[in-house]
Amino acid sequence: MYTYEDLHVLQSQSLKMQGWIRKQTFSPELEKTLRRFSSWEVSELIFQVNQSTFRGRLAADPSLPAGEVEEDGRQRWFSLEEINELRRRMKINRKTLLPRRPAGKRAIRAAIANFKGGAGKSTVALHFAHAAALDGYRVLCVDFDPQATLSHSMGLSDVSEDHTVWGIMARDLIRETDRMNAMPSGAASGASVPQRRLPASVRDMGLEELRVSDFIQNTSWPTIDLIPSCANAAFVEFASAQYRHLNPDWSFFAAVARYLDAIPDDSYDMIIFDCPPAIGYQSMNAVFAADVLYIPSGPGYWEYDSTTSFIGQLSEALEDLNAGFRDVAFPAGNHGRPKAFLDVRFLLTRFEPGNDLHRAMYDAFGKVFGERLAEHPIELTRAVEQSGRFLSSVYEIDYRNMTRETWRRARATFDRAYGEFRDNLIAAWDDMEDKA
Ligand SMILES: Nc1ncnc2c1ncn2[C@@H]1O[C@H](COP(=O)(O)OP(=O)(O)OP(=O)(O)O)[C@@H](O)[C@H]1O
Ligand SMILES: [Mg+2]
Repeated sequence: MYTYEDLHVLQSQSLKMQGWIRKQTFSPELEKTLRRFSSWEVSELIFQVNQSTFRGRLAADPSLPAGEVEEDGRQRWFSLEEINELRRRMKINRKTLLPRRPAGKRAIRAAIANFKGGAGKSTVALHFAHAAALDGYRVLCVDFDPQATLSHSMGLSDVSEDHTVWGIMARDLIRETDRMNAMPSGAASGASVPQRRLPASVRDMGLEELRVSDFIQNTSWPTIDLIPSCANAAFVEFASAQYRHLNPDWSFFAAVARYLDAIPDDSYDMIIFDCPPAIGYQSMNAVFAADVLYIPSGPGYWEYDSTTSFIGQLSEALEDLNAGFRDVAFPAGNHGRPKAFLDVRFLLTRFEPGNDLHRAMYDAFGKVFGERLAEHPIELTRAVEQSGRFLSSVYEIDYRNMTRETWRRARATFDRAYGEFRDNLIAAWDDMEDKA
């Protein structure tokens, strides 16, 4: 017979082994680093200017970053920092290379969500984050999924659960409970607010001491930061249910939105959420904090079915929230109003243009969802398969390591989907209310 205690013993043995394996396999060379980008990539793919124009401009101004030349090569290779400096200092045909960002607004937040597993959420989140960074934006990613695919892809594998979305939620419970307890009872509403006590097990974690920046980690991309996840954060679903009992007035689903509201408006441009394949406390936090919802889906019948059921379940969950928390202090500009997205889009992934079924499904999605279906699906490509220790995006892979045509096609499909994503975000951003 095996009880929870036996399982616990097995787990501690396993953890010891895990730590040992990590030590054995870790070496600094295996740390994820970002490659340099060739002048061909910088001019034609990133700045979208003619390569000879670009070279001419560099030659004309020796104070501009010149990149590095490899021993046997002729191309110059630029770091992302250098690319961003060029962006700031160069104009082509009197046009700035800086990306568009509406003035005076906070970063725009997009959740990549679908309760269907394997829909391509993490792949889309990773590629959109990288494409946005190459486009000159400052990006914050939030990994809401205890599978931690995005965190691992971004090179973060040694994360404690306190520093994940889970920590943000527990910290919010403490802060919200203190705030409610401090409210004068019998105030305007005439209702008395019950005093809630949190057990030492919650208080003693010391989470309320953590600052906003403590949850944010650097990645190998200088303009991408990450709030990571880890396997241990899986118990958040279980713990959150208990926490709601401790304070039934706690608007648990708004914890991450409140946290993000505390980040200075100008720290980031885009915030991208990778969601777990399940409805729960973490995914509801993601969806609630999001301005824009992007729903990736594979191009098969079953995926169509589960995407349909995803929007049904999401709609019901949001309706429940509206009913249960009408008077909650919602994040900025959202007091007591139902959660509303500035845009919702469906995005087909793993699409094969030569496959009749896929084309038929694209038409079916288009008939049903109309403009809400992203025009450019993400095509199936061998270029994003796991490469070594880390999952890498096509942007990270050096094109000399594979057939140039395969790399170009893969990059082109993500570029098109990202370009559409960015234009949709900018339109939504323009519609976003300024902070009251
Ligand atoms: N465009 C693509 N071309 C080829 N393979 C892809 C593509 N998109 C995703 N995949 C592969 O499909 C698998 C699932 O993708 P991914 O992890 O992005 O899905 P997910 O929705 O995040 O999954 P989960 O629900 O488990 O979080 C991965 O092995 C990934 O490499
Ligand atoms: Mg995933």
